[in-house]
Amino acid sequence: MKITIDGINFDAPKGWTILESAKFLGLEIPTLCYNEGLSPWGGCRLCIVELFTGKTSKLVSSCTYPVEEDLIIKTSTKRVLNARKMVLELLIAQCPTSKVLQDLAARIGLQQVRFTPRWEKCIYCGLCVRMCQEQMVAGAIGFVNRGNKLKINTPFDKTSEECRRCGGCMYICPVCMSRCEGINPETVLCGRCENSLQPTCTELNDNFNCWMGLKGDCGTCVSEKSKIK
Ligand code: SF4
Ligand code: SF4
Ligand code: SF4
Ligand code: FES
Repeated sequence: MKITIDGINFDAPKGWTILESAKFLGLEIPTLCYNEGLSPWGGCRLCIVELFTGKTSKLVSSCTYPVEEDLIIKTSTKRVLNARKMVLELLIAQCPTSKVLQDLAARIGLQQVRFTPRWEKCIYCGLCVRMCQEQMVAGAIGFVNRGNKLKINTPFDKTSEECRRCGGCMYICPVCMSRCEGINPETVLCGRCENSLQPTCTELNDNFNCWMGLKGDCGTCVSEKSKIK
């Protein structure tokens, strides 16, 4: 597939996406819902690029758009850069505390967010669902509800029988450091702290070693300590 990206002529293998081709050429495109080990989803639209056909052009998600013969692509036009900033502004307003989002903002030069923060715990990137389904082969979590009630959850809002307590969903999540609900098993998604084979907060109180880095805020270590007493 003969394509042109940022002026570079490239013979991309059939089946590759624009993102894969750009990465191969060392062109940097920011991504969020994309992960090499998971199927592409195209949810966040941070990876948009501009496709040119004659005098017209359109923005497409590079992580899901397959290369086609004679595509002309530009990865960092003014239109692309402005659109990416807008996407990221909206995401940061949704989850202002996410380090991943803040780092992305620094990378693309976004310095100000004009929208009111909403302090949500999810940006609906779908990474956790794909991680659980495709890598852990558990399928323990998924999207539930629609519209402003959309969220990630286990079936019937209960700790899942299918969940392997691997913590993969929390590991891959770009924003949910605060999503862990601690020792309340009915609302804990990962439930790893409930896995007696692998206690998480290994050093009690003095030097918290929670795998989530919450330094004991979840309270697991405190309850473990009281059991030891
Ligand atoms: S901890 Fe459970 S829900 Fe999360 S990825 Fe692992 S199996 Fe899936
Ligand atoms: S919980 Fe995290 S990984 Fe899952 S969809 Fe929300 S932001 Fe993405
Ligand atoms: S040990 Fe605490 S922070 Fe870590 S997963 Fe369990 S409840 Fe969450
Ligand atoms: S990284 Fe391509 S749409 Fe999210």
